[in-house]
Order: sequence, then structure tokens, then C-alpha cells
Amino acid sequence: MTKETERFTLTRIGHPHDLRDQMIKDVRSGLTAEAKSLPSMYFYDDHGSALFEEITQLPEYYLTRAETEILDTYADEIIAAVHPDELVEIGAGYARKTCLLLTAIHEREAGNVYVAIDVSEAALQHAGANLTRTYPWLHVRGYLGDFGSDLDAVPRRGRRLVAFLGSTIGNLTPRQRPGFFRAIASMLDEEDGFLLGVDLIKEEAVLRAAYDDSAGVSAAFNKNILTVINRELDGTIDIHAFDHETRLNPESGCMEQRLRANREIHARLAAIDLDVHLDAGESIHTEWSCKFTREQIETELGAVGLRTTSWWTDSENRFGLVLAKLSSASSA
Ligand code: SAH
Ligand code: AVI
Repeated sequence: MTKETERFTLTRIGHPHDLRDQMIKDVRSGLTAEAKSLPSMYFYDDHGSALFEEITQLPEYYLTRAETEILDTYADEIIAAVHPDELVEIGAGYARKTCLLLTAIHEREAGNVYVAIDVSEAALQHAGANLTRTYPWLHVRGYLGDFGSDLDAVPRRGRRLVAFLGSTIGNLTPRQRPGFFRAIASMLDEEDGFLLGVDLIKEEAVLRAAYDDSAGVSAAFNKNILTVINRELDGTIDIHAFDHETRLNPESGCMEQRLRANREIHARLAAIDLDVHLDAGESIHTEWSCKFTREQIETELGAVGLRTTSWWTDSENRFGLVLAKLSSASSA
């Protein structure tokens, strides 16, 4: 049996400076615009990834528990439907739910390769160490990069099950989703599968509690984006001058997270020679968390040539899991 460290590799995809260059571009345009915004991928430094894990344990954050229930019930059916040589997970995080799929893979004697793609090096290290320790037969290939641009840099090692769990798809804007789904379709061959977790539309009060919990972890997660920007760009933004805000956008059906300035802000990002100004009451949009219906997601997948072959929900119909294949694939 090979050692744990020999069964885990981590590779940067894209040019080594791409992620930082991207951050500089995003921060400059996002914080100088009239309607200010920051892309949600900047939440996830070491601390942000750990805070997200804390969120998944909160009583109000039902998403992880609901998806775990589905995977717990149907992992074997999912693996039997694809029998993958490799499980490729996009936005893997700490890959806790992945264990349910990996156990089913081992029981069905499918492949021994797990590929994790994430922008958080800490999350990839955590997942790699944990999974190689738990599964002595498993090879973990971590890829550090942006799933919005780098998916085609991940080499193929046989029949694939590509998983995108947690409803992270909801963190893409409605305009970004078609391009992302096209990139997924182009990662797939006829026998491959795409497993997508989606949070379903529900009562506003339930959603509000999930994104504004009583322990304040969601607020800390939201504010961490400013800590990341300050650290990476030598900034002086006063985090305490912002309040966490979440609301349901009735037109898009998305929860939106913002940071609202509770006083006038003058800050400087020295590394990029940028002065940042916000009036009191002005906000920075930090995250979309879109919610879906089955019909909507099937239509969006269908538009890029992906046909739903199975649909599962948890016992309370809060969360959905879709298995899709290329429409051109035979249905046998
Ligand atoms: N799949 C896990 C984690 C979800 S949290 C779960 O279901 O619980 C979202 C994950 O996506 C984080 O680990 C974050 O680092 C990663 N992520 C967010 N935006 C990304 C991007 N643009 N490219 C790559 N990874 C990204
Ligand atoms: C990772 N993603 C699906 C989470 C969500 O629910 O949108 C991130 C999160 N934001 C606030 N709480 C959790």
C-alpha cells in the first residue's frame, strides 16, 4: 500500500499569477463601480473555508443535512448508473459528503481516483489528507484554480462522474450559469455523468434564517471577504464598519448577501494604489445564492445538451440532486 502523501498531489491550474491578477481586476472594478460588488470566490481563504464548514453544522443551515440525506440514500444507485473510473468534484471544499460517494465507488469496485477542484488551497489540503487517510486505496488529485475558467485544464483519466454539490451552482449569477453548464458538458463523454446538487425554492423565513443565523457565523463568513482583500492587497478597510445583510430578490429567486456600511468609509488598498469610498448606508454585494425548481434546472441543463436521467430529493423536499448525461448518450 502506498503512503498517504504519495497518493495526494496538488497542482495549480491556469497561470501561477492568474488568481491574484483576477482578484486585482475584480476588486478594482467591483469597488469603484456605482453598484459595488465582490465575487463570492474571495470568501474562501483558510479561515473562510473553515467558517463555511461551521455554517454547514448550524441548525438553520439545512442545505448540507438535506443533501447528505439524499446521498446517504442514493449513493449506490448513482455509482451504479455511471460506474466511474474517476470522481471529479468541482468546488469540493473539505469534501465531507464525498465520502458517501467514495464508499459506494469502493463497494461497486469502480475507479480509485478522486479529483478535487477548488480555489481554496486549505480546503484541498484538508480534503486530500483526510480522504487518503480514510481510504487506503484512493488517489487524490487536487487542482487549485477557478472553476469559472480552468475546468478544461483537468486531465481525463477514464469514465467520469463530475459532481457539483452543495448548491454552489446557486453562487453563479443567472447570466454565468449557461457558460458554466456548457463547460461542464464539454468535460463529458457519452458514458459520463454529471451530479448536481440544487437548493429548492422555499419559504422566505427558512431561507433568511439559513443565511443570517443566530450565532452570527454567516455574518462572520460574509465579513471575511474584506479581511481577505485587506490582507492580499494591503488594505485598510474597517470590517467593523459593515453590517451583514441578506435578502430574497423576488425577481431572480436568489438570496443575496451584502455588506452595508454603517458609516462613511474612506479606505486604501496600497498594493494596487486604490482609494475606496463608500457613503454611509451604501453596500457591497458579496454573494448570490440562487434557488431552483426541478423544471428550471432541467431546462437549463437541456439547453446545453444535458438530459436529466434521475432526480432525487430529501424527505422534506428542501434540496434536489440531479444526475444528467449528454443528450446524445444512449439511454441504456
Ligand atoms: N462542495 C462542498 C463545499 C461547498 S463551499 C459542499 O457541498 O459542502 C463552495 C466551495 O467552492 C468552496 O470550497 C470554495 O473554495 C469553492 N469555490 C468557490 N468559488 C470557486 C471558484 N470560482 N473556483 C473554484 N472553487 C471555488
Ligand atoms: C457554498 N454555497 C453554496 C453556500 C450557499 O449557501 O450559497 C455559501 C454560503 N453563503 C452563506 N452561507 C453559506
